[in-house]
Amino acid sequence: MDEQQSLPPHVLIFPLPLQGPVNSMFKLAQLLCFSGLHITLLLTENIHTRLVLHTDISSRFDQFPGFQIKTISDGLQEDHPREGSKFLEVFDSLRSKTKPLFKDMLTSGLLSSGKRRPVSCIIADGVLGFTCDVADEIGLPIFCVRTISPCCLWIFFCLPKLIESGEYPFKDDDLDEPITSVPGAEAFLRRRDLPGFCRSGDLQDSNIQLFKTEGQENSRAYGLILNTFEELDGLILNQMRTVCPNLYPIGPLHANLKNRLTEAKTSLRPSSNSLWAEDRSCIDWLNNQPLKSVIYVSFGSIATMTNEQLMEFWYGLVNSGQRFLWVIRPDSVAGEDWKNKIPADLAEGTKERGYIVGWAPQEEVLGHPAVGGFWTHCGWNSILESVYEGKPMICWPYFLDQQVNSRFVEAVWKLGLDMKDTCDREIVEKMVKDLMVVRKEEFLERANHMSKLAKNCLMEGGSSYSNFEHLVKDIKSLSD
Ligand code: UDX
Repeated sequence: MDEQQSLPPHVLIFPLPLQGPVNSMFKLAQLLCFSGLHITLLLTENIHTRLVLHTDISSRFDQFPGFQIKTISDGLQEDHPREGSKFLEVFDSLRSKTKPLFKDMLTSGLLSSGKRRPVSCIIADGVLGFTCDVADEIGLPIFCVRTISPCCLWIFFCLPKLIESGEYPFKDDDLDEPITSVPGAEAFLRRRDLPGFCRSGDLQDSNIQLFKTEGQENSRAYGLILNTFEELDGLILNQMRTVCPNLYPIGPLHANLKNRLTEAKTSLRPSSNSLWAEDRSCIDWLNNQPLKSVIYVSFGSIATMTNEQLMEFWYGLVNSGQRFLWVIRPDSVAGEDWKNKIPADLAEGTKERGYIVGWAPQEEVLGHPAVGGFWTHCGWNSILESVYEGKPMICWPYFLDQQVNSRFVEAVWKLGLDMKDTCDREIVEKMVKDLMVVRKEEFLERANHMSKLAKNCLMEGGSSYSNFEHLVKDIKSLSD
């Protein structure tokens, strides 16, 4: 055996350049590194610059031996907004401009050294289909990761069937019409619960074009890594195995990593990978609030709202009489400068019972004993973080998988209330009161039950624990 072959397998991990996917792929990278593999985490230059600005990534990763970060261009101008509706331009650019750079990087020997083998395996976000082409071309094994929810991914897999059956595009405007050609979801899925872009009704919609081939694309990889756990998503995972037999549900990833590090009694800590500066003053504020009295409100890293929506939400929250901690990112509100036009009654109600920050340490907030509920946009990371901490949810889905996720929260897991397609202060007020007061016990009981299952699956012998061991074993054997 030559000297380099005796070194650990070298895995290149390439996340989609968005906060949610970057978060979960960072955790996966650290988990694999902690299991003795060498890791190169490949970030776009834009994401890397933002991380360096707001986090301690370099010092945190120095502690993980065998870990390195490399950067690659996403092919866009520095001042391109890259978020919201502009995100599809990032996809196009990654496909056309980044793909050749990615191949060069893998074949140039740039990523190996005396102490590190050449890359022996790739793990990439499954939506970056070009990584499978490159893996094929240069003969490397590849695993795909999907950081969106499996329930939405399953709908992507079923898009050709929905189109063939005539259920999509919709024949009329009735969004409550049931959907019958998504196996496993016949009992509860309605048109309004399909991914947000399905509302366009246009078969040529760029999202439909992008996601229609998901089943074929993801089954090209050796296996599909998912951030979920069997006890939460068994229904959907069983359906998905008919298309991709080799599934690795290893979530909730954020807690999987924390558990492994704690179990090993190491001083290593998961890195913070926020793309915004965290305002920790909210933890001091929470420390002074009664047990389970606060609803935490956050709509993730991409969702935006209009000034009118902001007002409806805000009045609803204040009128509910409940305490609230609200994340309003600097780019959350489209249009007018809302900070200079806050009505006096809202300012007063917020001073009494509310706290607003630009970005919060969310995992810590959700784990805080003062937090009793979470009003979320239903991003997949947010849902898993909430499930793990046993916090019931109000769902206001914005786009993509969030319309599907919110239906699952209410109708399948019974962990909260789905506010989709409404934005009215009276509905907000009622839902907040229902979650935090009227139906508090019922939701807390369900949330505690699911939280226990999430915790157990990460213990030795639990489903995600075993699936992760299996993944490491498979990476090692494919790297030989
Ligand atoms: C996007 C999509 O919205 C989501 O539906 C998809 O599943 C993944 O990509 P995003 O909008 O960023 O993600 O939402 P989410 O998946 O919930 O991720 C947000 C992350 O940012 C979470 O890990 C959350 O802990 C973190 N966060 C959010 C903070 O740390 N602080 C905040 O104030 C808000």
